[in-house]
Amino acid sequence: MIKINSENILKKKIGFWNGICEKSLGKLCARRQHFVKEVFKNKNSYGYDFLNLPDDKKMLADIKKFATEQKKNNWENIVVLGIGGSALGLITIQDALLGPLHNVFNKPRLFVVDNVDPDYTDTLLSNIDLDKTLFIVISKSGTTTEPMLLYGVVKDRLAGKDHAKHFVFITDPKKGELLKIAKKEGIPVFPVPEKVGGRFSVLSCVGLLPAALAGVDINSLTKGALEMRGLINKTEAENNPALLLAILQYVMDRKKVRPMTVLMPYSNYLYRFSDWYRQLLAESIGKNKKTGPTPISALGTTDQHSQLQLYNEGPENKFIIFMRVIKHKADPINASKMPKDMAFLNSKKMGFVLDASYKGTAESLAHNKRPNITVEIPEINPKNLGALFMLFEFQMALLGLLYKVDAFNQPGVEYSKILTKQILSQTK
Ligand code: PA5
Repeated sequence: MIKINSENILKKKIGFWNGICEKSLGKLCARRQHFVKEVFKNKNSYGYDFLNLPDDKKMLADIKKFATEQKKNNWENIVVLGIGGSALGLITIQDALLGPLHNVFNKPRLFVVDNVDPDYTDTLLSNIDLDKTLFIVISKSGTTTEPMLLYGVVKDRLAGKDHAKHFVFITDPKKGELLKIAKKEGIPVFPVPEKVGGRFSVLSCVGLLPAALAGVDINSLTKGALEMRGLINKTEAENNPALLLAILQYVMDRKKVRPMTVLMPYSNYLYRFSDWYRQLLAESIGKNKKTGPTPISALGTTDQHSQLQLYNEGPENKFIIFMRVIKHKADPINASKMPKDMAFLNSKKMGFVLDASYKGTAESLAHNKRPNITVEIPEINPKNLGALFMLFEFQMALLGLLYKVDAFNQPGVEYSKILTKQILSQTK
């Protein structure tokens, strides 16, 4: 079971000014328990609909049917064209469940193009066999500049081929330019549910369709999310992981004046999870001049040798969330005999060293009175990843209520989209 260890945030460990007293934490959580109920009550309102995604059996059946049909095409590459909430969840699934090295050793390879970088796009399109490639264009609005441009560029490259066979779209089922193109050109379309926002859409077709095509067990992903939702629904006060995470985040930012939140997984497989979370926290809560912790992503142990000096002794403005994986799939052991001064590495498993590094880092921060908590994950698998998505999405819905902001809109993003389109329309 996923657990939250908040020992290094307690007053008894890091002192009066930086820490929270255990009793007050319990009381704070209990006092806000009604927010959990409120989130569930709102489950059919705009934004909150992410809660219902794991119940959507039809969606799962449709995805699986499509994935099975596509097997006959023997695609070597699946290339997703999307950005923001239409990309980050899938990238997280890919890295966590297929592994960051998947494309080097396996097929079908899965590429997510989430930028209009000309060099990157050209290199990719010039080096993959387009005949053996399925392109999935994902855009909830169906009007975002980046995926639309990428679609156009790819379509040109497919000139002379039956291009409709090489495309699938995932978009709003009722409106948008992408939908119009699909209808005109006979391209299959899968929906992004109307009341699910981009950054909350990972457990819809947005994340699950490409994941299924790449061979991920999407049933278990969904099951994990469902179980976490059940746990959040029935658990009270500080034992409720989503409520605890939300209260800790809020108190650290508002009461302890730590406006930066670092998410630091000790796993390359979960590194991109912190990118997904970065968007979730930034776009959901960054809503006015006074509201919005700044999310930072880091990787353990790598960033111990890059960022930790700052976290440990720099400005006291950070709240650190570690992600610790208890059991790794593979765990190479060091059978070599090391020199005398490095003999502590003799016969050590790599996972043990990674974990010791996490412990050393968390303790060093606590010693310097820097608040940190740890999300403990028994192992990385589809079920636990699904649970993590639900846990942090629910935390965000709670934070919206705590900060009194709409966690589900993003006017700042929309404004930049409008200006970009204006600039492009004025130039030839
Ligand atoms: O969370 C959001 O809504 C945004 O970040 C969007 O995901 C992003 O702007 C891409 O939008 P769309 O999916 O409409 O192309």
